[in-house]
Amino acid sequence: MTGHVYVTRLLTDDAMAALAALGPPLVTGREEPPSRAELLRDAAGAAALVSTLTDRVDAAVLDAAGPALRIVANVAVGYDNVDVAAAAERGVVVTNTPGVLDGATADLTMGLVLAAARRIAEGDRFLRTGTPWVWGPRMMTGLDLSAGAVLGVVGYGRIGRAVARRARAFGMTVLATPTRTPLEPDDGPVTFRELPDLLAESDVVTLHCPLTPRTRHLVDDAALARMRPTALLVNTARGAVVDTDALVRALQEGRLAGAALDVFEDEPHVDPRLRALGSVVLTPHLGSAGDRTRSAMCGLAVRNVAEVLAGRPPLTPVTGG
Ligand code: GLV
Repeated sequence: MTGHVYVTRLLTDDAMAALAALGPPLVTGREEPPSRAELLRDAAGAAALVSTLTDRVDAAVLDAAGPALRIVANVAVGYDNVDVAAAAERGVVVTNTPGVLDGATADLTMGLVLAAARRIAEGDRFLRTGTPWVWGPRMMTGLDLSAGAVLGVVGYGRIGRAVARRARAFGMTVLATPTRTPLEPDDGPVTFRELPDLLAESDVVTLHCPLTPRTRHLVDDAALARMRPTALLVNTARGAVVDTDALVRALQEGRLAGAALDVFEDEPHVDPRLRALGSVVLTPHLGSAGDRTRSAMCGLAVRNVAEVLAGRPPLTPVTGG
């Protein structure tokens, strides 16, 4: 087949209907990710590829698609799974879904901050064991956010700022790594600190930077050594921004009080050492998993496909690698 739209996973119902209404034949994957062989097979001859963050769209996939391919529409704000440079070399537009998932991701992040600070998941697990217990003044105490605990935001973009707004409402003070994006009037008070100082001064460090060669293992042994032993690390960005081995060492040795992780290196694998640590809260990459948010993400990807196939510029093109 040539000139078809290949969507690698089942999107929301409204987005699937909109894709079907576009006109070109539609090749649809399943709810689960395609195998590499299926991806290469079903991409062959496609005019548009609608991918998700679980699909590695590299030069081999672009070549398998061939010269008909005009757009890779990634259903995610992150696009580290797409070889943007290889796409540009082949004249293929890459799009992502920025702006529609900031609130949902910030909500989940704030939930993880609360869960880690106030030991919510640990308390839930504790009760499920059926262990006899009684309220006690020293029982399961954690970090008070409302006492001016310091949130360090690494990556002060749309999502980082949305997290900061929520954190301020809980009484936290906000530090952030420097950004070139001008502050908006409703952004609220923030103090900028270079990463080493931010790490040293924060009670909770939350990651909101894209995964790039520059940010891979940004949080490594040296970074963790700068954090307070009472501090918490929250990651809803990409797993590989953190060096898992270094994080496990810091947690096991009590150099870091806890972590809350929504994303993992080598997803969907979750390191068993993390699963064994009671001080770690784990969620399965749920950052943008709000009903309306997922519809908005899928809808934006479909609109990008519609625009490009109609010969118009995409709404949300990706410009960097
Ligand atoms: C989710 O992780 C996204 O990048 O949208």
